[in-house]
Amino acid sequence: MGVCKANVVIDSAIDIESSLMVDSLSPRLAAIADQVSVSTVLADVGTDHAQLPAWLLTHGHISKAIALDIAEGPLVRARRLGLSFGDRMDVRRSDGLAAVKPGEVDCVTIAGMGGLSVAKILRQGVQVWMAAKQVVIQPQGMEAEARVVLLAGGWGCVEGHLVQDRRKLYVIERWEPSLHEPPWTAGDLRWGRLIRANPDPLLGAWLQGELDDVEQGLHRLVDSGHAGHPDAAKLKAQQRLLRMELEGLA
Ligand SMILES: C[S@@+](CC[C@H](N)C(=O)[O-])C[C@H]1O[C@@H](n2cnc3c(N)ncnc32)[C@H](O)[C@@H]1O
Repeated sequence: MGVCKANVVIDSAIDIESSLMVDSLSPRLAAIADQVSVSTVLADVGTDHAQLPAWLLTHGHISKAIALDIAEGPLVRARRLGLSFGDRMDVRRSDGLAAVKPGEVDCVTIAGMGGLSVAKILRQGVQVWMAAKQVVIQPQGMEAEARVVLLAGGWGCVEGHLVQDRRKLYVIERWEPSLHEPPWTAGDLRWGRLIRANPDPLLGAWLQGELDDVEQGLHRLVDSGHAGHPDAAKLKAQQRLLRMELEGLA
């Protein structure tokens, strides 16, 4: 009896927690959700709290979600949230896409990880995403690494945006199979072809933020008497590139 009561309390606590968590998304996660096509079966890699798939299911936007994470802690939270969705949310422990079979999903989201990690997940899970219809990425730094893998698979970027969330800027791109992807320049790989093509309203602020970081790094080297260090030359090259890119926007 006591156990039952405890379960009831726990279940209702889960319901309250779930409904609170899926009612709204942060601007970053909302912008990712916007890129996921209606009715898809989604694999969310590195799902953590599973907020993204839970929100998409709650709003009837997708038919099923596979929520994947490498770590047990996040999976406990994801499973708890997944309870509300029955067999429409499948929570799996997985390194990248390893626990997903090719053809099982139409869309793959990979968000909140560095570009190198996103690229590694894409390389190792190539058969899964190549069998899907779309990949939505939100890499945090080294975005070019992920773009190179998608381009090598014959995919093209169909949407690219910057989104601001709590004073930080994030890159969000949707990729799909493409027969006519135009060539990408070095600048496109670094900052995003579509983000540059019709300059995203936040591109100037993003470039300026990068330039400020580079210049702070340079000042630190100069102030500590290491102006001749090879890193200073690299930072100066970055500074030149960023200034040119900013001038191109003006
Ligand atoms: C910062 S959280 C991002 C959560 C969510 N995707 C978001 O954007 O808010 C990164 C999550 O990715 C998971 N993760 C890191 N490497 C992974 C991998 N190789 N495969 C699956 N999950 C991974 C971590 O355990 C963590 O839960």
